[in-house]
Amino acid sequence: MIDYVNPELILNKENIPTGRIAWRSPSNLALVKYWGKYGRQLPRNPSISFTLNNAFTETVLEYSPKEEDSQNIKLDFFFEKEENDAFRNKMLKFLESITDVYPFLTQLHLTVHSYNSFPHSTGIASSASAMSALAACLCSLEKELFGTLENSDDFYQKSSFIARLGSGSASRSVYPHLAIWGESDVANGSSNLFAIPWGERVHPVFKTFHDTILIADRKEKSVSSRAGHSLMEGNIFAQNRYDQANERFAKLLKALEEGDLKTFGEITENEALTLHALMMTSEPSYILIRPNTLVMIEKIRVYREATNQPLYFSLDAGPNIHLLFPDEIKDDVFDFIKQEMEPLCENGEWIADRVGEGSYQLS
Ligand code: PMV
Repeated sequence: MIDYVNPELILNKENIPTGRIAWRSPSNLALVKYWGKYGRQLPRNPSISFTLNNAFTETVLEYSPKEEDSQNIKLDFFFEKEENDAFRNKMLKFLESITDVYPFLTQLHLTVHSYNSFPHSTGIASSASAMSALAACLCSLEKELFGTLENSDDFYQKSSFIARLGSGSASRSVYPHLAIWGESDVANGSSNLFAIPWGERVHPVFKTFHDTILIADRKEKSVSSRAGHSLMEGNIFAQNRYDQANERFAKLLKALEEGDLKTFGEITENEALTLHALMMTSEPSYILIRPNTLVMIEKIRVYREATNQPLYFSLDAGPNIHLLFPDEIKDDVFDFIKQEMEPLCENGEWIADRVGEGSYQLS
């Protein structure tokens, strides 16, 4: 099993350089959801997602030799130009948790600047974009300091592995179009340890798919994903859910390959509702969707019946709707959004996104 643990990644104290690395990485939207984990951030079932384009994090990592000789990690953290203790503590905890993979982190003074493209607290999950951007910066750092990871496949695999340790879903953000994370017999090369690219295996219609995020409620979610995953351990539906996810995963892969939009939509919508049903049947139970989430879902279904157009929805772990549709119906759908959905969005806010290219380094 690849664990990337490497005690030899230690710098010569006399010769520690200074530098700056920057990456942009997008969020992603799971079509078959990862919900339930074990061990060191390993998934209970395989998942597959669209990589997004416009909802991204840019992270700049500056490094220099650390002055004091200690085992602590020295980290300064700025979110959108301001110091942010809550985010810093989260990042510090994550960096401390990977010193078996990257022991040299304790030898450096790190300064991280992070920016999100999407407005602050719109309920859009930022952990996938933030953790994948940070992971890519760390892999670039390894490459610069040790001359490793020259091969691009190796680089992306390791950055997906490291992103996964920070936030499971972040492992999928690094690859273009679609990515799979979690072992499955029907996906060659799939692994619980890192995501693999799947964009080349799908019908072209999915490479230009739209994902418009309708902000039903801007409030931070009341129960974190971390807590949600752990509640799956006591959920009486858990085993059935994992079996169901495997079945749906196989069916969805086939639909994606064939360009079968109807099956794609049926599975995707049901996955979103299943995720929220699992939250509602956890003990204690909780509900993250809001009244307007349901009003929007009804309207989307009415629109689909009336027009016969392949317009579908998904949900992340929150109240906001992800509207999924092929490029060829975009004009009609944007009219529908403006007329029927916008009035239901908090502050009329929605974000037009689409399938994108994954992480890339900024100069
Ligand atoms: O990556 P986490 O631990 O934040 O979990 C995210 C889980 C979902 O977003 C709800 C589903 C998924 O597969 O992305």
